[in-house]
Amino acid sequence: MAELRTSIHGQWSSRWAFVLAATGSAVGLGNIWKFPYITGENGGGAFVLVYLLCIAVIGFPIMMAEIMLGRRGRQSPINTMYTLAIESGHSGQWKWLGWMGVVAGFLILSYYSVIAGWALAYIFRTAASTFNNVTPDGVSSIFNTFLADPESLLFWHTVFMVMTMLVVARGVSGGLEKAVKFLMPGLFLILLVLLGYAMSTGEFNRGLDFLFNPDFSRINQESVLIAMGHAFFTLSLGMGAIMVYGSYLPQNASIAGTTFLIVIADTAVALVAGMVIFPLVFANGLEPGAGPGLIFQTLPMAFGHMPGGAVFGTLFFILLAFAAWSSSISLIEPAVAWLVENHNMDRMQASVIMGIACWLTGLLTVFSFNLLADFTPLDMFESFKGKTLFDLLDFLTASIMLPLGGLAIAIFSVWVMGRDASRDELDMGDGLAYKLWRFLVRYITPVAVIIVFLHAIGMIDLAG
Ligand code: PHE
Repeated sequence: MAELRTSIHGQWSSRWAFVLAATGSAVGLGNIWKFPYITGENGGGAFVLVYLLCIAVIGFPIMMAEIMLGRRGRQSPINTMYTLAIESGHSGQWKWLGWMGVVAGFLILSYYSVIAGWALAYIFRTAASTFNNVTPDGVSSIFNTFLADPESLLFWHTVFMVMTMLVVARGVSGGLEKAVKFLMPGLFLILLVLLGYAMSTGEFNRGLDFLFNPDFSRINQESVLIAMGHAFFTLSLGMGAIMVYGSYLPQNASIAGTTFLIVIADTAVALVAGMVIFPLVFANGLEPGAGPGLIFQTLPMAFGHMPGGAVFGTLFFILLAFAAWSSSISLIEPAVAWLVENHNMDRMQASVIMGIACWLTGLLTVFSFNLLADFTPLDMFESFKGKTLFDLLDFLTASIMLPLGGLAIAIFSVWVMGRDASRDELDMGDGLAYKLWRFLVRYITPVAVIIVFLHAIGMIDLAG
């Protein structure tokens, strides 16, 4: 390589700091809130299998590609894509790929913050023993009353957005790195305690059976699209979050090795979360397909009846809020880094501006659960019938924008960027491992994403 760039935003203090930060980004609401509820809605085992397959053959190689591009470019994804494209003799228009990522991250954070706000609110509810000996109806009515009140949702959404911006404003090693060093180990510990409890419920095997026994009659094209989108979402791929974290990675760290650790940790947390939640769901006669409210409606029920439930429940929601926190900072980091690079702002100004804009956009989600609950603007399409603004935002970002971003990243890494450049940056020689990576990114990822998309388009009934 000609010359080594450095990032103006600083650098992780070590490879481990990067692994922690990237794991912090990957492990979030996606693992603990979203994975169980979409698994419940899509029938369990078969969906989980498709998701795992997508993680292995799409997520893993794309994560390597994103880290590689980030470290090579050492700037915000927009400028990285621009620089690397020009460097390899292609059009600077590739910067639009960076832009799509910035928009996707912004939109995701707008609703992510609202859901994370639910977790914050539930910390205090469980701690106050609100759920002691509650009935299933009682728990739903507490949840529904909460959702029906835009002011409470707004309050917690505001608190979470402020928390996010405080960390982002402090910068790479001052803010992000300090926060995750303390958040991640705590998270793993609390999850293991909960797993121990779930094993004692008597329905542990039934939970495992639901998660791991595939019944393919229970999934369709839409489930496959959701599973693939979730593989991107849960690994923070397709929008530049991992790319921007990669741009702060020290030059000597192995990309394949770090990717392996991050993917294993993320997948383990999701599966363990499922193994905690489904036994509790079955042991309490609850409904796996309850939707986005699943963990907020079913878990408090369990916590309300188990010995020490208030303690376990409080720990659980603290864990969820921590996990969300270390993800949310990476959702907005590409936008903040870009503002600092191109508009001469300091991180504080950039964070405040993005925070306010994102907070405002979050109002759409806040109101989707109350004032605008009946506003389902795409009802003319059969497959979007009944979808609220929140549902549509989630679908647009997780199922469309992230896989599309991932597809473009794959194309860029092997068709646009020269072979020498990627081999040099990945630094794993020219052996089997490199060839396998290249094969997956060159053929398997693009073909898989395109096939899933085509099937999904076929499923959308335009005549509705
Ligand atoms: N991976 C995060 C989660 O699972 C969400 C996320 C998506 C974060 C995209 C950054 C980028 O909750």
